[in-house]
Amino acid sequence: MPVSIRPLHPVFAGEVSGVDCGESLSSRDIAAIEAGMDQYAVLVFRDQQITDDQQLAFTRQFGALESYGTPGHIRRASESRLQRGIADFSNLDPSGKIMSDQDRVWFFKLGDRLWHSDSSFRPVPAKYSLLSGRILPTWGANTEFADMRAAYDALDDRTRTEVEDLVCLHSLLFSREAIGFTDMTEPEKAAFRPVRQRLVRTHPVTGRKSLFLSSHAGAIEGWTIPEARMFLRDLTEFATQPRFVYAHEWRVGDLVVWDNRTTMHRAAFRSQRSA
Ligand SMILES: [Fe+2]
Repeated sequence: MPVSIRPLHPVFAGEVSGVDCGESLSSRDIAAIEAGMDQYAVLVFRDQQITDDQQLAFTRQFGALESYGTPGHIRRASESRLQRGIADFSNLDPSGKIMSDQDRVWFFKLGDRLWHSDSSFRPVPAKYSLLSGRILPTWGANTEFADMRAAYDALDDRTRTEVEDLVCLHSLLFSREAIGFTDMTEPEKAAFRPVRQRLVRTHPVTGRKSLFLSSHAGAIEGWTIPEARMFLRDLTEFATQPRFVYAHEWRVGDLVVWDNRTTMHRAAFRSQRSA
């Protein structure tokens, strides 16, 4: 069955059929999915009952896995529920229980409810992210995506000129500071030193420009911090208007792949206090 894609939203996001993510793909299917990613930026694969190993194998067909042995990382590998190569975006602790709302790891996770692009705080940020829905909360587990190409296209001429050559500084500490979590260790401060990222990116295949926004962006080179924060806040508000946003309502077996270069996303999981 050939790969086909049905649009899920007027400007981006599509649902793929004709792919079994648990099997190795032909080069033709890989090319079709990559072309789909270039066009839609978010792709949903339904009914994929895959294991962690299958998810890793599927992911590797699209590039190398992100790997940082950063000292001072928020959770040591020995405390992880999942094998190396898979980041845990659940609300579970290492023993599989619902995480305490006092858990420091939870404070880091809460920041994912702000609009962001994965690993924009790394020198080489993430290209794609692949999130697999295995067990869902009973409500409130949407992931929202915003198309930063459409947002760029909709900028007025003056703003488009203003952002063209701007360079932002991104750090995980900026996004956690934004929710009032500032109690960082020295190794964390060292591990998450700000990195430079251009605010306007050009897609290497399509040539489309997009805004590389993220809650991790906390400064603009050459600007005062308050001016930069307000500008980035206004720009983020503009770029995440409902017309640019697709809200994914998870079903068990969904595998969702998104392009971090051209989209932002945020989690909408419920508070641990009401779990
Ligand atoms: Fe994320």
